[in-house]
Parts: sequence; C-alpha cells; structure tokens
Amino acid sequence: KKGNYEHFMQKEIHEQPHSLTTTMRGRLRDKSVILGGLKVHLKTIRHSRRVIFIGCGTSYNAALAARPFLEELSGIPVTMEIASDLLDRQGPIYREDTAVFVSQSGETADTLLALEYALKNGALCVGITNTVGSTLARKTHCGVHINAGCEIGVASTKAYTSQIVVMTMMALAIGDDKISTQARREATIDSLYNLPNVVREVLQRDGEMKDLAKSLIDEESLLVFGRGYNYATALEGALKVKEVALMHSEGMLAGEMKHGPLALVDESLPIIVIATNDSCFSKQQSVIQQLRARKGRLIVMCSEGDASLVCHSGSCRVIEVPQVADCLQPVVNIIPLQLLAYHLTVLRGYNVDQPRNLAKSVTTL
Ligand code: UD1
Ligand code: BG6
Repeated sequence: KKGNYEHFMQKEIHEQPHSLTTTMRGRLRDKSVILGGLKVHLKTIRHSRRVIFIGCGTSYNAALAARPFLEELSGIPVTMEIASDLLDRQGPIYREDTAVFVSQSGETADTLLALEYALKNGALCVGITNTVGSTLARKTHCGVHINAGCEIGVASTKAYTSQIVVMTMMALAIGDDKISTQARREATIDSLYNLPNVVREVLQRDGEMKDLAKSLIDEESLLVFGRGYNYATALEGALKVKEVALMHSEGMLAGEMKHGPLALVDESLPIIVIATNDSCFSKQQSVIQQLRARKGRLIVMCSEGDASLVCHSGSCRVIEVPQVADCLQPVVNIIPLQLLAYHLTVLRGYNVDQPRNLAKSVTTL
C-alpha cells in the first residue's frame, strides 16, 4: 500500500499534487466555485453575525490559515476555537452564528462534543471532513468533504492542505455575490488551478530539506516565526516537528516576538522565519534584521528570487518557494516543513507513522 515509499507519512506528503486535484475536482467551473454541500445554505451563512471555526490539532491550524481570506471576502467576523477550550469555557454561541467544524476523521471526541453544544444553541453547523459517513458528516446541517483520500500517518499532511483549499473555496463561494472583490476572487481561482503543479515543484526540494534536517538532528529546540496568512504555517510546521521528530518546537506569531520570545534568541537556537512575499513582507524583513542583530541562527523561507532581500552576505540559510496567491501560500509553505519533520524523524530514528503516545483519532476524552 505504501508503493515505492518507506512510510505512509512520506507517501502522503508526496501525493499532495494528486490529493489537491481530487479535492478541487468538479468544484471549479471556469471562474467560479461550486460546493454542492453548501449551495442552499450560502444565503444563511452570508447573513450570520459571526463564523466560528472549531477544531483540534492540525485541523484547527488549517482553519487558522483560511481565516484571513474568509474575513476579507465575507466581511463577517471570524473567530477561532479549540474544541476543548470552547467546552471548558462553555463559550457563548448563538442562533445567528455559523459554526464550522473541521476534522479529518470526523470522529474527534472534543470536536463532536462542541458540535452537540453548538447544535443545542441553535447555530448553523457546517462540517469540513475527509470521512464520508463520519459522525461529523452525519450530525452537521451541511458541509464539504475534502476528498483527500485515506490518510494513515498519524501526523496529518495531505488532509491539512486539502482542508485549507476547501475553506478557501468556501470563502470564494460565500463572497461570490460581491462585485467589489471579483478580480481578487478570479485571481485566487486561477491560482487554485495551478496549485497542484506548484506543490509538485516544491516537493523536488526533498533533498534540500533532508540536508537541512541533517544540520538540525541534534538540536533540542526549534522555533518557527510566522504572521498573517502564515501564522498557521508556523504553528503547523512546529506541530509536525514536535509530534513526529519528538523535538521541542514552537510556532510563534512574529508580531509577538518582542513580548517574550526574543529572550530565547542566541547563536545556537535554530529559528525558522516564514517571510514569503505578501502584505506582511516588510514587517518580516524587520523581524529578520532584529533577530540577526542578536546573532540568531536563522533559516528563512522566502519567495523565489527574494533571497538577497531576506539574507545579506550569506548569514542565514534560505528556503526559496514559488509564489502563489497570498491566501494559498500556506499550502505551498507547509510542504518544506512537512519534509523537514519527516527527514528529522527518520534521521533521529523515531517511528514516523506511529509517533510515541499519539493516536490518529482521539475518540476518548
Ligand atoms: C456530491 C457527492 C459526490 C458526487 C457529487 C456530484 C457524496 C458524499 N458526495 O459531492 O460523490 O460526485 O455530489 O455532484 O455523495 N455534508 C455534511 N457535513 C459534512 C460534510 C458533508 O452535512 O461534514 C453533506 C453536504 O452538505 C452534502 C453531502 O454531505 O449534502 C455531500 O457533501 P460533498 O461530498 O462535499 O458534496 P459534493 O461535492 O456535492
Ligand atoms: C490527533 C491527530 O491529534 O487529532 C492529529 O494525531 C489531528 O493529526 C488531530 O490533527 C485532530 O484530528 P481530526 O481528525 O479531528 O482532524
């Protein structure tokens, strides 16, 4: 079943050009998006007072990546909830809310309990899942299957990128009654068509990421700084490294750097900075300058051709990735970090597909 691959995680990383294609199949028509599962509910969603994204782990991170684009296209406030935290607080949910539940398996206990809670409070409940017939798919009012194909590795990879694509398509569908954003929507749809090819190109950097993994094999800790669309990339990249490579790793909002994390910076702690070209680029350039001033050991991810803008005189390591529409850049940017986590795990001699203490689907509390 693993074909030419040694591990499921490796196979699932490399099959992303295909899984992204199946996620989009039948759902893009010329310059518009058709999501059969949401069609009759779009009007209700557009009239809701708030959209709440609810999930755990990687699924939460995928929603976080899609949030800015949904806010931009819908004009509706979008808030984020980790399912367990929503339940701990019994946070307020109203009839006028649209609650979007994101879960690869559709069986995560906390997510399902949060769903029951939102149903009881009268919100419109939307599911985003990879599993047809799952409890989530059955109990939500409507939703979208991500159609990424079966995911076996405990660490989610292809489901993450397909979830982002589905939620981006959802934002396009919700926003498609607005003339003011038509050009923006069409450019994003063009970028969606080309996304599998771009991901295929980035996967060619496998050897480069293996070399990077070799240079980090004995580290105890790794920080990942991101912001805007790629705050989620920082959280998800760090989550991959910690869950499979068993290395302490934290994703951090670059805008919060001076409020604590800067104290950790020295010549030895490796720090990945996501600085691909978008509206946050100049802010990330100044973050890089400040980290360099403290002699930080930097690995910078930037857009192709931007190496000299982020790293002067070869003082840091650079990962160049192709530029796509800003809201889809998280799909591209996570690929090198998935590869890094994979190679680090193999080099450190740990179990890639069944990491210590973790389960693919957490169905008990
Ligand atoms: C559906 C068919 C697909 C077919 C296509 C043709 C299924 C599962 N999908 O895909 O095989 O090729 O029509 O037009 O039969 N739903 C939820 N909660 C969720 C996820 C989905 O309620 O978490 C509901 C949706 O609202 C929808 C149904 O399940 O009513 C199927 O969803 P989805 O597979 O995403 O719909 P299509 O893409 O239209
Ligand atoms: C577990 C998995 O922790 O559950 C993660 O190991 C996953 O990979 C998380 O992101 C949430 O699972 P699901 O199925 O609700 O997306």
